[in-house]
Amino acid sequence: MKAIAVLPGQPGSVHLADLERPSVNDVPNGRGVLVRVLRVGVDGTDKEINAAEYGAAPKGYEFLVLGHEGFGVVEAVGENVTELAPGDYVVATVRRPGASIYDRIGMQDMTTDTTYYERGINLRHGYLTEHYVDDADFIVKLPAALKEVGVLLEPTTVVEKGIHQAFEIQRRLRVWRPRRAAVMGAGTVGLLAAMALRLRGLEVTVFARKPAPTLNSELVTALGARYVSTSTSSIAAGASAFGPFDLIFEATGSSEIVFESLDVLGRNGVLVLSSVTGGDKKIEVPADRINLSFVLGNKVMVGTVNAAREHFEMGVRDLGAAELEFPGWLNRLLTHPVRGLDSYRELFTALTEAKGAIKVFLEVAPLPAA
Ligand code: BGC
Ligand code: ZN
Repeated sequence: MKAIAVLPGQPGSVHLADLERPSVNDVPNGRGVLVRVLRVGVDGTDKEINAAEYGAAPKGYEFLVLGHEGFGVVEAVGENVTELAPGDYVVATVRRPGASIYDRIGMQDMTTDTTYYERGINLRHGYLTEHYVDDADFIVKLPAALKEVGVLLEPTTVVEKGIHQAFEIQRRLRVWRPRRAAVMGAGTVGLLAAMALRLRGLEVTVFARKPAPTLNSELVTALGARYVSTSTSSIAAGASAFGPFDLIFEATGSSEIVFESLDVLGRNGVLVLSSVTGGDKKIEVPADRINLSFVLGNKVMVGTVNAAREHFEMGVRDLGAAELEFPGWLNRLLTHPVRGLDSYRELFTALTEAKGAIKVFLEVAPLPAA
């Protein structure tokens, strides 16, 4: 079976590997699910793994199969799988349990272990191949009506977890009625965060570098959200016009923006950080002022990574709600389809070079008609 893989530690090593075809019985206790891969999205994480910034091969392999944003159709199930059946559209979660107490209760997204296992990222093969098998516990069903946009579920779960964390934390306030939100960044995650916050009835301002109009700015306004370009207005100016913000979702990929965000967070507000910044950037910040406003304003900042099964389920519901409330909107995010596992070079060229790309994804196989 063909698979798109890298040799961890070797920059630019993306290649076509040969992987043994899995069987439903590879998973014990009759809980195996065999999935035929249809589409796989790629993102900055794949770019960084191919640049050898991180990523590790599973034990016994030299290569790591990429792809953590999967979408597929069930082909076979083990005898103890009752919740899924052949023909179901599914997405598998990314992280697999380690040893911490959180891992043991299905919350491996909150692991305290140093080593973590993520399909397509670290120590486990991903979904950029023809078939995969996994335990039904890690596989989430989508309605057939979402098949066109199902490949967006995994990035949506990053947003769902972040927002859910914010609401969980804000239970400290007994009554929290967030009205104004800011989203930093208008890439895939920023756009999906704006969508999820609009679906929850918040007034949303998205800050992004590029001046409007761009496809991204149009997608923001199509949600009934506001787009502010930081090339013409500072975040501080944008916040004094449209803030203060009760919730800020940071998804720019740039750690600098975190500190500007801290400065425009409202009293009792919560700032959610989701950018994975692998670099070594150093900046000067107004430390006393930020600290004082956090102390006197009872503010919170929280980091979020990965997502648990419940966030995948929330994501399915939000994708469905978005299709009803903003018909066709999700489809417009799917800007760069690339066809076939043989086109791995094209896939990575689109990922690293395509102008105006929102979601680059591989069509591993055509979507079934029915
Ligand atoms: C993935 C997450 C993962 C994180 C860190 C992101 O690109 O979407 O599932 O936890 O990278 O590896
Ligand atoms: Zn990702």
